[in-house]
Amino acid sequence: MSWFYRNAIRPILFTQEAESIHNRTMALLNRAGRSELLCDAMHSFLGAPPLPVELFGLRFPNPIGLAAGMDKNAVALPAWAAMGFGFAELGAATWHAQPGNPEPRVFRAIPEEAIVNRMGFNNLGAEVIAERLADWKKLGRWPKHPVGMNLGKSKITPLDKAAEDYANSFRVLRPHLDFFVVNVSSPNTPNLRQLQDKSALDEIFAALQEVQSPPPGAPVPKSRPVRKKPILVKVAPDLTFEALDEILELVGPREIAGIVATNTTISRPASNIPVVQKVYAETGGLSGHPLRARSTEVIRHLYRQTGGKLPIIGVGGIFTAADAWEKIAAGASLVQVYTGLVYEGPGICRRIVSGLLECLETRALPGIASAVGRE
Ligand SMILES: Cc1cc2nc3c(=O)[nH]c(=O)nc-3n(C[C@H](O)[C@H](O)[C@H](O)COP(=O)(O)O)c2cc1C
Repeated sequence: MSWFYRNAIRPILFTQEAESIHNRTMALLNRAGRSELLCDAMHSFLGAPPLPVELFGLRFPNPIGLAAGMDKNAVALPAWAAMGFGFAELGAATWHAQPGNPEPRVFRAIPEEAIVNRMGFNNLGAEVIAERLADWKKLGRWPKHPVGMNLGKSKITPLDKAAEDYANSFRVLRPHLDFFVVNVSSPNTPNLRQLQDKSALDEIFAALQEVQSPPPGAPVPKSRPVRKKPILVKVAPDLTFEALDEILELVGPREIAGIVATNTTISRPASNIPVVQKVYAETGGLSGHPLRARSTEVIRHLYRQTGGKLPIIGVGGIFTAADAWEKIAAGASLVQVYTGLVYEGPGICRRIVSGLLECLETRALPGIASAVGRE
């Protein structure tokens, strides 16, 4: 499948502009997702063997997730399980619907197996996305794996009103999803990454936790205590270790459930390939192979600083089981892919999970949890 995708399907897909083929694929997956029969057929080709992980009180059938940005509007939700994913992070959703940046805004650097994007949180807005999620449930097509939502800030909302903007989205989406990721690390919304600053992030998390805390003095029945949904934060690979450490200071006080490391990078590696240089000259965030090492470095740092006590979702340049193993061994309990799916095709989950099972077997380890942070 991998050979066939890389040599027969991918070259045809890549003759088309990146965003238009993405949209067409999503429309196809939307239709496939509505049919149990089609999803079952997809699953028999692409489904991954079981490799369960328990985290945040949730059960993940395997540790490979769909990274944020692929299914911003929850268009293809049931299809991700059919493609073997163990969880999906939808979004980014923002409180206000917005078109994102002008097109073109996604560029492939094929020789480096990388992408530069400056989408700018194009999405239908939290309320419409919440309705769509309810529709999937009504249709009986809700997946068995955990589903999370990436939350972004609306472009029109000023930075000093960011907490309210995130909280509005969280309020309407909270009932539908298993976990949330506060995205303050996209390079494509002006000044967004300033929200990674400790005091700004503190304000955002305070507002989110308030949404899911009973008002002071309200009676909480012992039989039905409020179950807080896990809220994670997604960080940029361009932060210094000192800045990451400041974020970690909020983990206890603001009940941050985990960290997603990392988003795309604004840095560019040197390249002497003219087509790559042209893509790297585009404004936006770089993902794929060139991001792999830095994102692993960030994960290793976070794992060491927290003594392995804070769950980390590792993302950035994962294409193979070896790449996923590297992230897990550095400290990630779960991993996600975006660019790897584009370059390796829909068999990626099955291949990575099978490869991880082999890694565990050769080291005589009983499961993913025992491999986290080992190397
Ligand atoms: C086209 C595109 C859109 C993205 N949109 C989002 C987004 O909305 N929110 C987010 O947190 N990350 C977004 N990302 C970042 C990915 O979730 C991921 O963190 C990053 O691409 C690194 O992983 P990868 O190398 O596997 O692609 C986007 C990435 C791409 C390529």
